[in-house]
Amino acid sequence: MRILVTGKNGQLGKSINKVVNTGNGKNNYQQDNEFIFVGREELDLSSESNISHYFDRSNKFDVIINCAAYTAVDKAEEECELANQVNHLAVKQLANIANEQKAKLVHVSTDYVFDGTGGKPYKETDKTNPINIYGETKLAGEQSLKEIMPTNAIIIRTSWVYSEFGNNFVSTMLRLGKERDELNVVSDQIGSPTYVTDLAGAILEIIKNKEFKEISQATQIYHYSNKGEISWYDFAKEIFKIAKVDCKVNPITTQQYPTPAKRPKNTLMNKAKIAKTFSVGISDWKESLDTCITTLKAQQ
Ligand SMILES: NC(=O)c1ccc[n+]([C@@H]2O[C@H](COP(=O)([O-])OP(=O)(O)OC[C@H]3O[C@@H](n4cnc5c(N)ncnc54)[C@H](OP(=O)(O)O)[C@@H]3O)[C@@H](O)[C@H]2O)c1
Repeated sequence: MRILVTGKNGQLGKSINKVVNTGNGKNNYQQDNEFIFVGREELDLSSESNISHYFDRSNKFDVIINCAAYTAVDKAEEECELANQVNHLAVKQLANIANEQKAKLVHVSTDYVFDGTGGKPYKETDKTNPINIYGETKLAGEQSLKEIMPTNAIIIRTSWVYSEFGNNFVSTMLRLGKERDELNVVSDQIGSPTYVTDLAGAILEIIKNKEFKEISQATQIYHYSNKGEISWYDFAKEIFKIAKVDCKVNPITTQQYPTPAKRPKNTLMNKAKIAKTFSVGISDWKESLDTCITTLKAQQ
């Protein structure tokens, strides 16, 4: 299969690249597949003509994994047009292209399509109701994709993604923890973190799966994150514990930490569907955090 991966410089794009190019991944994934990784230099999703231009000049793909997204949640409140172009209109265009090429499309979405007031882990069929621009644009992307591709696509909603690559909650906490003696972290937003290597592994397992390879399977949404139900405050405390950083963490409320974009209160997701359909393992959040911090330390 020729597999296109967009967003090669982001957390997920880098992680998929690392998994398929190192260790066992080289044998497991590269044997029958050719992976093509592109960033905004090659495929700029902010421009319709650039997207067309890229695909007009490439050979056909069998699978497109869309890891690129406008992910600056607060900035999206101001840059709504750009966020909508990248998270919605570009996804719509990718879906049309995937149809033309008879390619499968794997698209990544977010827990922020929910308003966070559900009270129990969200299932894929639960009502969406985004409360910020980022969530609205991601939901619009999902809806267009489903409309254009009633078959042959999957949407994976994930949450609180962190990694050993670039800026994310874990790297930010580790940096601040070294600079300060104490930190205030929000304790009334609940969810599950997702170690990007686990997500990359899940996506790669799915595209190898017989179920996924079948032609004209109905398009489905799946939820994926690590196992656990925590707040950002719990997350910060565990980061410092594992990394042995001496920094006190004080719980604060969302009200005490105002941000331009509203955040949903509880976006815990039910992962039973993805686990059952594709036999994808769901790792415990603490174990995955430990792996990430060990990897970060080895890189230093
Ligand atoms: N991060 C999270 O906490 C989180 C939570 C829930 C869901 N998700 C979803 O998970 C997926 C992967 O997220 P991530 O954490 O890997 O995000 P990320 O690290 O922010 O990476 C996103 C990538 O998209 C690229 N991109 C942005 N605008 C683009 C454009 N106009 N044209 C081409 N590429 C563009 C960025 O390119 P540059 O590197 O050049 O800027 C970046 O490499 C996304 O769909 C995101 O919505 C993420």
